[in-house]
Amino acid sequence: MNKMKPSISHCLTLGYFLMFFYCGCTSVKFLESDCHPHTWDKLILVHHWPVTVCKMIMNDCDDPPQYWTIHGLWPDKGEDCNRTWHFNVNEIEDLLPDMRQYWPDILHSSLNRTRFWKHEWEKHGTCAATIEPLNSQKKYFGKALDLYHKVDLNSYLLKVGIKPGHTYYQMSAIKEALTSFYGVTPKIQCIPPEEDEDVQTIGQIEFCFTKELELRNCTHSKTNFFLMQNNLQFRHEELSICNDTLTSYPLEV
Ligand SMILES: *[C@@H]1O[C@H](CO)[C@@H](O)[C@H](O)[C@H]1NC(C)=O
Ligand SMILES: *[C@@H]1O[C@H](CO)[C@@H](O)[C@H](O)[C@H]1NC(C)=O
Ligand SMILES: *[C@@H]1O[C@H](CO)[C@@H](O)[C@H](O)[C@H]1NC(C)=O
Ligand SMILES: *[C@@H]1O[C@H](CO)[C@@H](O)[C@H](O)[C@H]1NC(C)=O
Repeated sequence: MNKMKPSISHCLTLGYFLMFFYCGCTSVKFLESDCHPHTWDKLILVHHWPVTVCKMIMNDCDDPPQYWTIHGLWPDKGEDCNRTWHFNVNEIEDLLPDMRQYWPDILHSSLNRTRFWKHEWEKHGTCAATIEPLNSQKKYFGKALDLYHKVDLNSYLLKVGIKPGHTYYQMSAIKEALTSFYGVTPKIQCIPPEEDEDVQTIGQIEFCFTKELELRNCTHSKTNFFLMQNNLQFRHEELSICNDTLTSYPLEV
């Protein structure tokens, strides 16, 4: 007897059942996911450009940092993998100075500093925690900060002269500069041009890592796309893969 069979058919039945209910809003998720929704292959270190994030929320934030900050460290699959593993800021006390500087909540800066971290831990961290190097809150946030420092995107962009301001860049030039330096293709997201413009605005840069925490190419998988689309709380639904056109990299909101 093949022991897998009953569970697969159960899973398919459950999948269709859920699709029936979720049809029209999250059916993509069920088509994409398999019977192991928490098994992931790669980690995505997401940087966002605070000025653009502010632009996306009608400029409702004061003094956004003028450097790329962390949005999150996301497994490419799975969300809210362990609902009983609650965020506890005391576990990352040592990391707080770095967290405040490099992983600030751009959207709710004046409200509650820990809310963003709680969201990221519960949605993504609890899924990432299936591997030993990330299996605690301290390790998860600490490793994300390590990877961020290792990638050191801010220094690299400055070094090659890609600076925020009034200059527009060709997206292909940014992409080629990053790919040749890092040896892997990142995923770059923009907000589309406003109606009377023809310039997109850079908003997010993602680097992908293997489970061994080595850089790898980001492939544009649908799961990844879904994750991004689904991050409604932070309104990143306006972001999409940048086109090869002129790109603004704004210094001010
Ligand atoms: C979920 O988290 C709780 C609290 O940390 C832990 O005791 C439990 O083993 C976790 N469950 C799984 C399936 O990892
Ligand atoms: C901030 O949010 C955390 C987690 O949601 C909560 O435990 C804490 O009480 C909140 N603090 C304030 C001042 O609202
Ligand atoms: C890229 O081009 C497509 C097709 O014209 C458009 O739908 C999309 O919004 C554009 N994306 C950006 C970020 O400008
Ligand atoms: C990433 O993809 C490029 C081709 O697009 C390839 O040359 C390179 O070897 C890949 N790098 C890794 C680490 O897989």
